[in-house]
Amino acid sequence: MSVWIYPGSFDPITLGHENIIARGAKLCDTLYVAVLENHSKHPTFTTDEKIELIKECTSHMPNVVVECFSGLLADYAKQKDADAILRGIRNTGDYEYEHNMSQLNKKLNSNIETVFVCAEPELACISSSSVKEIAKLGGDFSWMVNKNIYNKLKDYINRRK
Ligand code: COA
Repeated sequence: MSVWIYPGSFDPITLGHENIIARGAKLCDTLYVAVLENHSKHPTFTTDEKIELIKECTSHMPNVVVECFSGLLADYAKQKDADAILRGIRNTGDYEYEHNMSQLNKKLNSNIETVFVCAEPELACISSSSVKEIAKLGGDFSWMVNKNIYNKLKDYINRRK
């Protein structure tokens, strides 16, 4: 049984994240999508809201489990007896950051490998901040998030303007 973890802040989940989840879920038996709690970035969405949105987007993937974690990722991975951390790479900037993180995580938990999946080119420019900025400024962000959550996100953003 291979257990992988896809961690992140997911504020909110985008089509870029969803693509990495779908591809990762084909490569392992169970994929935990793990939402970081108490992130130093000031989140737009609460952890519960993030989890609900991710569950909606991944409900067709039976081996995907969505939950939150706090503290060190390496400790959460130990708790789950995980084999690997899954990370998406959009560009060389992501690679440099992720390479360093993978080494830190390996020092903290020698059993954990990090598996990198390259973002699809048409999704590589998407980030959660750009979704929120375009939504707040009234632009079209329908190509950046799942159709099912597009309206929900619009509501959330409008209520919090
Ligand atoms: N598609 C779209 N966007 C993507 C993406 C992809 N494939 N991959 C990353 N992103 C974006 C995210 O949307 C986010 O955008 P934003 O900055 O606009 O919000 C940004 O890239 C980075 O977000 P995320 O993937 O959530 O990573 P992160 O840098 O916030 O790190 C953890 C999250 C959970 C992996 C990391 O903080 C962590 O492990 N924390 C726990 C503490 C710990 O163990 N630290 C390590 C030892 S120091």
